[in-house]
Amino acid sequence: MPHYLPLSRVARLVGTSRASLQAMIKQGEIDTFDGMIELEELLRKFPDVHWRDEGELEYVNAIKERAFGKRIMERVLPDKEVLAERLYELGKEFASAKSLLLHYDQVFDWLCKHLGELADGGGEADTAVLALKHRLRQQLDAAPQEAERARALLARESLLRVMTAHVLVQPSGHEFFVEGNDTLLQAALRAGIPLDYGCSNGNCGECKARLVAGQVKKVHPHDYVLKGPEKANGTLLLCSYTAVSDVVIEARVAGAEDIPRQTLPTRVRSIEPLADGLIALHLFTPRSQRFRFLAGQRVKLNVGDAGGDYYVASCPCEERHIELHVRAGAQPFAGKAFGGLRKEDAVSLSGPEGNFVIKLDSRRPVIFLAWDEGFAPIKSLVQHVMSLEMADSMDLYWVSDRLPHYQENLCRSWADALDNFHYQALFARSGMEAVARAIFSRHASLEHCDIYAAGPAAFLDAARAEATGRGLSLLGFHSEKVE
Ligand code: FES
Repeated sequence: MPHYLPLSRVARLVGTSRASLQAMIKQGEIDTFDGMIELEELLRKFPDVHWRDEGELEYVNAIKERAFGKRIMERVLPDKEVLAERLYELGKEFASAKSLLLHYDQVFDWLCKHLGELADGGGEADTAVLALKHRLRQQLDAAPQEAERARALLARESLLRVMTAHVLVQPSGHEFFVEGNDTLLQAALRAGIPLDYGCSNGNCGECKARLVAGQVKKVHPHDYVLKGPEKANGTLLLCSYTAVSDVVIEARVAGAEDIPRQTLPTRVRSIEPLADGLIALHLFTPRSQRFRFLAGQRVKLNVGDAGGDYYVASCPCEERHIELHVRAGAQPFAGKAFGGLRKEDAVSLSGPEGNFVIKLDSRRPVIFLAWDEGFAPIKSLVQHVMSLEMADSMDLYWVSDRLPHYQENLCRSWADALDNFHYQALFARSGMEAVARAIFSRHASLEHCDIYAAGPAAFLDAARAEATGRGLSLLGFHSEKVE
């Protein structure tokens, strides 16, 4: 009986990215069925992966060792009832596999008995029948070649299924895992998938979604009342339910126009010098309040009446952390930031604004271009695309006339960690057209790419002209003027 695994789970099992697997599928290196990979295909394609040595088992062992560290257990392990239901489902699968084996055993005994009866007459036919019986027994006793690896893989996969549930979102096709006690909404946001929602505590109904397949469980009560027909067609509130089994849901993904303007009191978590006259300001939102935004958007910061507009440089997948790059002297807020702002000081945050956001339905290769401090929105976009694992490949080009680039090591670490990520720092002296030409000459074709560029208008114009001249559709060029 073939055993199929979803792509995201395979990525976890073999320790690679979903995008790398997709690239292998595209190149015909792995066969799939309905977007799933069959167990034998997996063993064939990854002969060198030693399932039992991999991190997930160590991860669970570490959890067991810390079993009495209560907070850690509460965060990582699923709700007791969810855990029990997942184990029950696994038990049912185990029971049906066992009963099938018992049945095969009985068929084998029956076959042996009848072969024995056939061999009772003597002569050459008897010898052949006895040899066949002997051979059958030998075959059954010999462990199949891949049995050990298949067993280890299945054990690991079962463990993953007990610890996490896989969620497929329709019609967007996004996938994520639910871990610990997270609701479907919390898990989606943690994965960077901006499912639409409002209050996040069961009052508004904005997070309504429909369960298409699988099993869910209410983990937080909600005051919002679902109507009878909604209940009948599987409607649920993402902020109240978690996934018990792997599930498929129909849910709305929010675009920039769906995200309301918010004002939140935040606190300074740290101030990190990036370069001469440039700092990264790290803010924390209040414990129960997440700031909703999409990568590439801007916010307004205020201390008293000193304000300033900045791009968020962190990923929306980070729960309460907001990073902003502040240049000395440029705006009234910078005077405060460089003039004695300290850890734990209050900063008012409002927004978000802007439409320089990622196309969430695109799976195309992505090229990011940042000119100098245009790096802040690009950094957020890069991290968002990474967390969504949506692009086949990512290329980041950062142009600056100030050397070294201030987060050079971070960019290099992305390139080291990801097979499908390329990074190049460029020096701006040669002129904008020449830089744009140098960048795109690395790419054989731009026809099926998306380009996200942030920098001064003259650079954007040069990059747009060069890219469209090399086959990029105008719709594939997304830009933000950052002077
Ligand atoms: S977000 Fe308001 S009910 Fe779920």
